[in-house]
Amino acid sequence: MQNDLKILTRLGKDLRIMIVAGTEELSHTSREILTPYFDEIVAVTSARDAITQYTPSTFAIVYVDLSLSDMDGMELITKLQSLDKYQKFIVLIDKENVPVMTKLYEIGVTFFAIKPFMPKCFLQVTYDVIRIVLPDQYVEEQVREFHKKLEDITEENKLQCNLLMQQSKLVQTGEMLSMIAHQWRQPLSVITAIIATTRTRMDLDLYKRSDDPYGAIEKDLHNAFVRIEEAADFLSKTVNDFRNFYRPTNTANTFNVAELINSVCRMVIPEKHYLDIELDLNIDTGIVITNFENELKQVLINIINNAKDAFIEKDIAKPKLRITLQKKGERICINITDNAQGIPQAIIEKIFLPYFSTKSEKNGTGIGLHMAKTIIERHVGGTLSVSNDAVFGGADFSIEIIPDKLNEEEL
Ligand SMILES: Nc1ncnc2c1ncn2[C@@H]1O[C@H](COP(=O)(O)OP(=O)(O)OP(=O)(O)O)[C@@H](O)[C@H]1O
Ligand SMILES: [Mg+2]
Repeated sequence: MQNDLKILTRLGKDLRIMIVAGTEELSHTSREILTPYFDEIVAVTSARDAITQYTPSTFAIVYVDLSLSDMDGMELITKLQSLDKYQKFIVLIDKENVPVMTKLYEIGVTFFAIKPFMPKCFLQVTYDVIRIVLPDQYVEEQVREFHKKLEDITEENKLQCNLLMQQSKLVQTGEMLSMIAHQWRQPLSVITAIIATTRTRMDLDLYKRSDDPYGAIEKDLHNAFVRIEEAADFLSKTVNDFRNFYRPTNTANTFNVAELINSVCRMVIPEKHYLDIELDLNIDTGIVITNFENELKQVLINIINNAKDAFIEKDIAKPKLRITLQKKGERICINITDNAQGIPQAIIEKIFLPYFSTKSEKNGTGIGLHMAKTIIERHVGGTLSVSNDAVFGGADFSIEIIPDKLNEEEL
């Protein structure tokens, strides 16, 4: 009821009503009850006054008391109906007058307030009529309320969304940082190793000019600087790669895939690697593509580093790594195969899952392959899969790049 009255207040504020009461007292009571809800109330105490003051289509409701002094209430209703057949009435009727009610029903009057009426019931019937008289306004009102609620919900949702966005940005930032940290291990260890070797040589006085008549020192240092530069360059590119990782505007560039593989090998498998990895390169040197060069580099580094980990873990006597690059129709296929005994069937399905790692002692994060797969599938445009190569004796990671699949908008 409380809500009905609120609606009645809003709907009634532009409406006029007429009260035709047989006594001053009834007129007064009805007016008192209805005044807060309507814009204008015309109250009369005779049928004659009612007819003179009546204009069709101007009163939302005409309240008619059946006991009028100058005319039968029912007659007045018929008269007013002849002026406006859509006029709505509420008849103020005595409890005993039920037979009249039936007659009123017959002429289309269906709303009654039984005398002596309770304000609550009187208002309820008024509200019911208003809902019928003003179906459109009522619906509009409901729609407005609904819209308001919807706006509130949307507003709430927006806040929630913003919060979620912020949270997901934080998660992304966290992911980005762990990817950068993961990828930085390699070049950082290259730099540290070169510095350590150089320092040891200096400590051993190996760099004394007198001992180096053929200029080996320069060559040695030059080599070291080139590799440090390469590693440092990679460090900085890694930051950009992963910063761009979450941005669709990352730009692709045109590069030779064989050169990319060579540069990765130079960094990840230096010539005199302590593992003494036998590197078997079968690469087509003429493949040029437009794609995300550095991101592809990150993928290769992860795969090769995993192979190196496996060589150590399985204590492989003669570690071998075969990298093939070939074109199969439109597709560009890169295979990286090792001889580290392969991946057990029980876990082969899981290795691309985030945070899956079997390297508990080595503090493996398990994000390497997940990141690699995401890069290939979402950015580079292709597939990354794994199988065991029984002949070679280890895992075989296969990258297939479909040049057309590179997202146009990412270009
Ligand atoms: N060449 C491989 N031979 C055998 N197992 C492998 C090879 N490459 C990956 N795996 C398995 O896949 C798992 C997941 O690799 P991933 O690179 O995602 O994480 P991780 O290497 O364990 O951790 P992180 O990359 O942080 O060092 C590894 O823990 C390992 O069990
Ligand atoms: Mg790894």
